[in-house]
Amino acid sequence: MATHCFEKFNPPEGHHPKTQFAIACSRRPFPATLASMTDPTNQLAEKMARSRDLTATTHELMNMGSAASLEMPHPVLIESAEGPYLHDVDGNQYIDFQIGFGALVLGHRHPAVEAAMLEQIQGKGWHFGLHNPGQIPLAELIVKADNCADRVIFCNTGTEATMYAIRAMRAFTSKPKIAVFDGSYHGAHDYGIGIADPESPANAPQWRANGAGVPDGIAEHQMMLPYRSEAAYGLIRENKNDLAAVIIEPAQSSNPHMGDDIGSFLAGLIDVCRESDVLIMFDEVITGFRFAYGGAQEFYGLKPDVVTYGKILGGGCPIGAVGGRADIMQLFNSLGTDPKGIMSGGTFSGNPLSMATGAAQLSWLDEHRAEIYPKLNTLGPRLADGINTFCKSHNLPVQVLNSGSMFQVYFTDQTIRTARDLPRQKTAAETAFYLHLLDLGILIPGTRRSFVSTAHTPEIIDEAIDRICAALQRVQDAGFFS
Ligand SMILES: Cc1ncc(COP(=O)(O)O)c(C=O)c1O
Repeated sequence: MATHCFEKFNPPEGHHPKTQFAIACSRRPFPATLASMTDPTNQLAEKMARSRDLTATTHELMNMGSAASLEMPHPVLIESAEGPYLHDVDGNQYIDFQIGFGALVLGHRHPAVEAAMLEQIQGKGWHFGLHNPGQIPLAELIVKADNCADRVIFCNTGTEATMYAIRAMRAFTSKPKIAVFDGSYHGAHDYGIGIADPESPANAPQWRANGAGVPDGIAEHQMMLPYRSEAAYGLIRENKNDLAAVIIEPAQSSNPHMGDDIGSFLAGLIDVCRESDVLIMFDEVITGFRFAYGGAQEFYGLKPDVVTYGKILGGGCPIGAVGGRADIMQLFNSLGTDPKGIMSGGTFSGNPLSMATGAAQLSWLDEHRAEIYPKLNTLGPRLADGINTFCKSHNLPVQVLNSGSMFQVYFTDQTIRTARDLPRQKTAAETAFYLHLLDLGILIPGTRRSFVSTAHTPEIIDEAIDRICAALQRVQDAGFFS
């Protein structure tokens, strides 16, 4: 049996752990307990003994994947959740900024979603394997909210949604290539996990798979474009004869921005694609029902040809959806009757539980959209500004980027315009920071993509700013930024 122990968390050479600090935040002084530790490892080991013991053999049983990568030698096992909080098996409470990888925009166990879930499972059933009436209201909600979806198909994840959308767009255009942008993520299938070869020029990035196991041939049908650069338009024009579609995250989760230039870049992209006879797809798996009720399409006033959804759409149950122009979407219905008809399926696709929770979450968002979206789009900047002000006043090489309610902390003071500007290596300061965050009761996922929900009140956001700044202060006091 494998045993885990916390590796000692070593302050940089020449620095000695201090025991007590009185530190000042630019906003207000921290309570001494928040700021009083340079080495969180022993304390965390004690606090998370049950998580450690329960997972002592999990590496032999199952793969915990990226959700586990919280700078810990073992995963933090979560027992329960409520509103903006998670509780682990050791009884520790965390302010949760993972919030179901962004899916739980109303927070954990929102009463309207929970009621819909209970109504579905008590007396109706949760898996039929056949069409069910719950699909109709959810499809109607999407079509009403979305600028480009005349029709939709349901699947189980964002990964499946982008996989089906890519197949449909290749079939529709009879062209093989798909272009994605440097810094993007479109799901875990072979066509979604492209990254730019870091040695390739920023304005002509080369696609390569992130990790092994992807046949070389895949790269032949993939293209990588530079993000926020008009050089992308030229590459699309040059490759238009082979290029079926361009797919883009309207805000890249790897470097969230929401500036005006993003809207004009997206608008220009749509024009170039139309003029080149290339389809344009917005991957709204994150931005859908988050930026605005109608996603980035509503926020920027744009209309692509195809759209993909996931996350928020399911109210916390697994879901994906593809929507788009009727002439493209009809390929999903014409396998065997039209030579361009495509295969889609899935044991759980359109299952009644995801339909019920998804419709409950979307209906709530729809009814309360006038308050919810201004709130979400204020809380994200409030959090980012609070932390950025602290970092500036303490000369810390750390910054937060946000696009509305999606944010990420970066350990660099260089301007980040695109993913090319992101630090390539994780620093010791960053590792230390995330351990301190856990100790201070803040959960940011291993993927670093972080989200605010409507359950995060302004008071909770301010509390989180204090704790995040306290974690940074501990890291600075331990000498990691020297
Ligand atoms: C933009 C985007 N597309 C697709 C996916 C894949 O979705 P899923 O994790 O549900 O498969 C993600 C996941 O984070 C995403 O951010």
